[in-house]
Amino acid sequence: MPTVVFIDPQGTEHPVEAPAGRTLMQIAIDSGVPGILGDCGGVCSCATCHGYVDEAFLARLPARTETETFMLEGVPDLRANSRLCCQIRLQPELSGLRVQLPDEQV
Ligand code: FES
Repeated sequence: MPTVVFIDPQGTEHPVEAPAGRTLMQIAIDSGVPGILGDCGGVCSCATCHGYVDEAFLARLPARTETETFMLEGVPDLRANSRLCCQIRLQPELSGLRVQLPDEQV
């Protein structure tokens, strides 16, 4: 199974193996990773699943949709590698992806 490594706001790494096709938000919540909320359940309407994605993987990720871009405009520390974790599904080619979670979720 592919793996993803979440880094919580305190800097602790949480490596998680998960089946392909699950979203990063679902994986983090199911694994009890602190620093992610996912209040809207993954329908891209809350931005409480914000994370900073490893830049080495950016080109392999699906592009931000207009809705995701709009929602990200409300997060406190938006960066070029900011993504909403509910909009990215783990795939084998993304194995090893690292996602830093921000100091606060909106
Ligand atoms: S869980 Fe709400 S936008 Fe991702």
